Amino acid sequence: MRLLVTGGAGFIGSVVTRLLLDAGHEVVVLDDLRTGYREALAPDATHVAIDLHDVAQVLTPRSGFDGVLHFAALIAAGESMVAPERYWHNNTVGSLALIDAVRAAGVPRLVFSSTAAVYGNPTELPIPETAVKAPTNTYGATKLAVDMALTSEAIGHGLAAVSLRYFNVAGAYLDGDTALGERHEPETHLIPLALEVAAGRREKLQLFGDDYPTVDGTCVRDYIHVADLARAHLLALDAASTGQHRVYNLGNGNGFTNRQVVEAVREVTGHPVPVEVAPRREGDPAELVASAALARAELGWEPRKPTLHDMISDAWVFHRTHRLGQP
Ligand SMILES: NC(=O)c1ccc[n+]([C@@H]2O[C@H](COP(=O)([O-])OP(=O)(O)OC[C@H]3O[C@@H](n4cnc5c(N)ncnc54)[C@H](O)[C@@H]3O)[C@@H](O)[C@H]2O)c1
Repeated sequence: MRLLVTGGAGFIGSVVTRLLLDAGHEVVVLDDLRTGYREALAPDATHVAIDLHDVAQVLTPRSGFDGVLHFAALIAAGESMVAPERYWHNNTVGSLALIDAVRAAGVPRLVFSSTAAVYGNPTELPIPETAVKAPTNTYGATKLAVDMALTSEAIGHGLAAVSLRYFNVAGAYLDGDTALGERHEPETHLIPLALEVAAGRREKLQLFGDDYPTVDGTCVRDYIHVADLARAHLLALDAASTGQHRVYNLGNGNGFTNRQVVEAVREVTGHPVPVEVAPRREGDPAELVASAALARAELGWEPRKPTLHDMISDAWVFHRTHRLGQP
């Protein structure tokens, strides 16, 4: 297929682009590199450095695309509370421009990066796709709005749409000379932050709250390896069907507390990771664990690297050799 990948210079989009190319698809990456990296661009993909809002320049009626995978977004939940307009404009208005262009160009299918943040404080665990959607931050709200627009587009115009709701994505894609990993600036995710502390680039790690109703008082999250997540996108492309909006959670169904993650980082790296307990962050649910039963049943998705150890080991290799520049 000829595919457009928005956000293909970012962490997850770059890994999915790699797998799509390896599977024989032709890929055009749309990414203006606002938070992505030129080094993460696949050499065998075409790169168009334009803003998502201008996507109609690429998705023209004659462009011949068979599908779009849509990753481009701003992703920092904390920032979305202090600069909400940036998130509504980029994540929601940008996605609506994409949906308009997809319709005008007659592109039959679209796979969207949604998030566990759409659920807010879960009322049931593990969380199924049917759970109440009540985001506690603007980031989650901007993504839920796009999910709803995709449902309408499928009903109104026959789009074959799939939303994949990722839980906490971790690890790195390592294959021969290719290494694609997490490089958010500023970094807000626990594993890369803990690795920066282990590598001596950061003095200590802050744990936000240790009085949650969990085994050790710190928040529980469900981690998924980026390579496992990426494979789900190829399955979703195949499963997409005309006039339907399908929604799948993607996680491993196992929760780990922040302290358990830090302990695993100490074990894998062999370095100390000093922590400091800071106040709870507004909008952080105590526990987020996915039920990915639907993705397993309908997409035939199976994680190959479900352990925290594998995810941290791969991320550590990426950090030492590519992010820190010290093999
Ligand atoms: N990382 C996670 O744990 C996680 C969890 C749930 C959902 N997601 C979703 O997955 C997607 C990818 O996340 P990521 O971690 O790879 O983020 P990332 O920041 O590494 O990648 C996003 C990419 O999109 C590009 N981009 C953003 N806005 C753009 C615009 N207006 N025009 C052109 N390019 C633009 C950026 O330059 C960047 O390369 C996002 O939609 C995010 O909401 C990520």
